Amino acid sequence: MKTPAASAKLVVLISGRGSNLRSLVAAAADGRLDCGIAGVVSNRPDASGLAWAAGQGIATRLVDHRAYAERAAFDQALANAVQDLADAVQDVAHAPSEARPAAATPWVVLAGFMRILGESFVSRYSGRIVNIHPSLLPLYPGLHTHRQALDDGALLHGATVHLVTAALDRGPILAQAIVPVLRGDTESALADRVLTMEHRLYPLAMQWLAAGRISLDGGCALLDGSDAADRRVLLHSMLAEPSATAGLAG
Ligand code: GRF
Repeated sequence: MKTPAASAKLVVLISGRGSNLRSLVAAAADGRLDCGIAGVVSNRPDASGLAWAAGQGIATRLVDHRAYAERAAFDQALANAVQDLADAVQDVAHAPSEARPAAATPWVVLAGFMRILGESFVSRYSGRIVNIHPSLLPLYPGLHTHRQALDDGALLHGATVHLVTAALDRGPILAQAIVPVLRGDTESALADRVLTMEHRLYPLAMQWLAAGRISLDGGCALLDGSDAADRRVLLHSMLAEPSATAGLAG
């Protein structure tokens, strides 16, 4: 499956502070990410990232999960909010769905969104939902990843950007960033080191998607259709920015 290119729009889903959201907005503003940010949706009214986005003039929506007794109803409200934001930018809300350009389907970008998405939402946006997870998947799906890395005595830890499927933290991996685990690390020191890399990794991976450089082959995501070692992207915190990403940006 080749992902469509051109005039990509992102709708970013958050539940908290939104530092990854900020990194995506910054990358879109300085040209590293050739996408528009159509809007931000939060499931929590107190998410500080939501207030930040509104302050930047970005369209925001609140879909408070506590207002929905059933997961299906929450999923539907979430899908409506996402599509409203995307349509507002594309200005095609009035057009029948079959007449909408492919670009009207947004990339749904999970950035610290702490609700599990239901099957109906995942299938509606199949292949277009992306997540960042603070571990080197398939290690440590779920919560408390930094604590688990420390408890295991891991020497390396990191973050993963992957496509979202119905299985939690299990979709095709697009890119990973690696950090060392240092003696004496606390959970929060390690989380900070990983987060710094997340802010480099997410805009880069989103740019590949938006530019149509990612394809899927048997459940495996390929960059530029190749499984060559230099297309298997790992950002390492000890590598300088240019050499770590040489030839991979854009
Ligand atoms: C990040 O560590 C991300 O990997 C995880 O949730 C955290 C969100 O942080 N999914 P922020 O809200 O983007 O600052």
